[in-house]
Amino acid sequence: MKVIRTVKEMSSVTDEFKKRGQTIGFVPTMGYLHEGHTALIDYAKQQCDIVITSIFVNPLQFGPNEDFDQYPRDEERDTELAEKHRVDILFMPSVDEMYPDDTIAKVSIEKRTNCLCGKSRPGHFDGVATVLMKLFHITKADYAYFGLKDAQQFAIVKGFVKDFNLPVHVVGIPTVREKDGLAKSSRNVYLNTNERAEATHLYQSLILAQQFIIDGNQNTDMIREKVTKYLEEHTSGKIDYVDILSYPKLEPITTFDNQFIIAIAVYFNGARLIDNIILDPS
Ligand code: PAJ
Repeated sequence: MKVIRTVKEMSSVTDEFKKRGQTIGFVPTMGYLHEGHTALIDYAKQQCDIVITSIFVNPLQFGPNEDFDQYPRDEERDTELAEKHRVDILFMPSVDEMYPDDTIAKVSIEKRTNCLCGKSRPGHFDGVATVLMKLFHITKADYAYFGLKDAQQFAIVKGFVKDFNLPVHVVGIPTVREKDGLAKSSRNVYLNTNERAEATHLYQSLILAQQFIIDGNQNTDMIREKVTKYLEEHTSGKIDYVDILSYPKLEPITTFDNQFIIAIAVYFNGARLIDNIILDPS
């Protein structure tokens, strides 16, 4: 595995892959790798000749009062894990390398952002799209892999790749979970013992909602209320949102005719956790 830290070297290495006609799979991450990330890497490995993983905690996608400085980082462990999963190139640029002083442009996302995480994290998805636009160009990715755990991110990436006619196929991978159902996340390390025990109820609340729907319940407001009540009763966290929207457009729905998402976010003292399930009745 080769570790690369500059845009210049990354570009020249990917030029070589392209010349040789090799397909490039790309897994963008912010590091502190776990089985969610390595599932994406393993999938890319099966589909592509070359796998590039990036580790870059992107300041542009963090709000002023968010956890950019506290975001967990462990380069040594991440390097070992990437190597174990047979990543070919690990790209770890510095902030200055990605955003030099003379930066003047950013990507602006116009739709799918005024709900779920976009509502509580203004500007977040502009930051995500800007870094991805750069990373797609730098890595010359043919395929890019994203987790459906971040379903709004996936819907937005799909949309902007289409809007800007970027030559990359965006692939979604199902959420990888702990044995008790908690979605794996780099931020889980910040939960205390009590919060970690309660966190299993996020997924349980989604299963509960799914069961209501399977049982024939069509009232989205009632289902949202049930999930909210369940989370209030079973966790000490503060609910950010419980929502049911069409997917991937993320618009309000009143009936379950087409694909939709049930998505939740809860603030614990240690971390804000998100989870979702996407259902397709058709
Ligand atoms: P990060 O949170 O590190 O996640 C990197 C990728 O791993 C994302 O596509 C995310 O959806 C996926 N992922 C995280 N947990 C997962 C899980 N439990 N199961 C399946 N996939 C999971 O998302 C970001 O970084 C950033 O916004 C990024 C896209 C790198 C842009 O900065």
